[in-house]
Amino acid sequence: MVSATSVKDALQSVAPVAALEVQGWVRTRRDSKDFSFLELNDGSSLRNLQIIAKNTLPNYTAIQRLTTGASIRARGALVASQGKGQSWELVAEDLQIVGASDDSYPLQKKGHSAEFLREIAHLRPRSNLFGCVFRVRSRLAFAVHQFFQERGFVYVHTPIITGSDCEGAGELFRVTTLDPNTPLRLPNDGGIDYTQDFFARPTYLTVSGQLEAEAFACALSKVYTFGPTFRAENSNTSRHANEFWMIEPEMAFCDLQGDMDLAEEMVKYLVRAIREHCGEDLGLFAKFVDKDLLARLEFVVERPFQRTSYEEAIQLLLASGEKFEFPVDYGLNLQSEHERWLTEKHFKCPVTVFNYPKEIKPFYMRLNDDDRTVTAMDLLVPGIGEIVGGSQREERLEVLEENIRRHKMDPADYKWYLDLRRYGSVPHAGFGLGFERMLMFVTGVANIRDVIPFARTPGSAEF
Ligand code: 4AD
Ligand code: MG
Repeated sequence: MVSATSVKDALQSVAPVAALEVQGWVRTRRDSKDFSFLELNDGSSLRNLQIIAKNTLPNYTAIQRLTTGASIRARGALVASQGKGQSWELVAEDLQIVGASDDSYPLQKKGHSAEFLREIAHLRPRSNLFGCVFRVRSRLAFAVHQFFQERGFVYVHTPIITGSDCEGAGELFRVTTLDPNTPLRLPNDGGIDYTQDFFARPTYLTVSGQLEAEAFACALSKVYTFGPTFRAENSNTSRHANEFWMIEPEMAFCDLQGDMDLAEEMVKYLVRAIREHCGEDLGLFAKFVDKDLLARLEFVVERPFQRTSYEEAIQLLLASGEKFEFPVDYGLNLQSEHERWLTEKHFKCPVTVFNYPKEIKPFYMRLNDDDRTVTAMDLLVPGIGEIVGGSQREERLEVLEENIRRHKMDPADYKWYLDLRRYGSVPHAGFGLGFERMLMFVTGVANIRDVIPFARTPGSAEF
């Protein structure tokens, strides 16, 4: 028995092959007088392999009834194609129907809307577009590991269930085994008695692995996490999901400059890796999703990114003469429309904004000497806005305790985190890159729901 060859390998063959086996799903079938022509796809490549079934095959009648979506296995000779647009085709000597399909199969050849495809998220990876998206997603994840492993970073698995709200934004999904119908209450309505809960304390799904990554950076020097994070934020936008993956490097003996350098280097590295390894998939995005994609990616790897302080950014926005939906003022958060104006209209390239007012950033960021700003940095890209958020961390014990209090939190809840400043504290810095936002950036796909296999967004957790 011949072991199965992927469609990709078959199409890349350098010479005819006398006997080869392929398997996959039928994209289309058309018939001539004596033959059936089947387009076969197995997800290894955007391209299909044409299978030619002659009417002398014993099950030819059944083959002529094959519809889009059916799975088959075919054995035969790989020969140079007579037809246009492909170099090789398989002349079947044996064709087994593994699983039939029928006309109710929702993925027909005609184009479908993105909304419709989201409703059939279990079948959409069989479409050209989503095959490309998820191959690129896989390669991008691999490139993330390559980037850090080549630079001596240690991969740390930070917990998914945690007791701390790293971002302090209160956007936490609670993890509990208490019965919602009969929660155990403390006497005199002292609230819910979490000592009776599974972990004997309130716990949540993590919003970020940063705090735990800091503990490991203060031992292994250069670390990174890459895992799922969860945010119960009710943002119904094209760039927010409630479950997304984040890449979080953390470096001991590193300041804000080093942090910004690494973020920019990483974004360029990832774009380069996808250009190098996913050319065929990018070609489809450039044709059907975003005409400017290839030029933009070229530009991103070739040109330096810009940097500007938050204060300068506010001045630029105020002087822009642009009518924004949200107000611009020192002390307010930059909204997506502001970020996009900076990258798309003003700098016309990715830009890192740094030194934000302390009031609008989390407790762990290092206070600058001006006492007004913290060493925050956000990397913004055209089309999306923020893809990286990071900072140098506050390494001075007293200042950190004060920051925690200023954020109306209790230093006692952060004892282990404060220990890192008690014992051998070092300047350190890190950032979080939103994996899906990076994927949107390299593919041009405009909605985060379309780069996640099964997206979780407000009001929607199908599958
Ligand atoms: O800016 P954020 O909230 O930063 C942190 O969580 C830090 N603790 C990271 C760190 O310094 N280690 O999130 C980081 C990135 C954002 O820039 C964005 O790309 C992505 O995570 N992100 C989201 N992606 C999709 N959906 C959401 N709801 C996201 N929220 C943040
Ligand atoms: Mg942020």
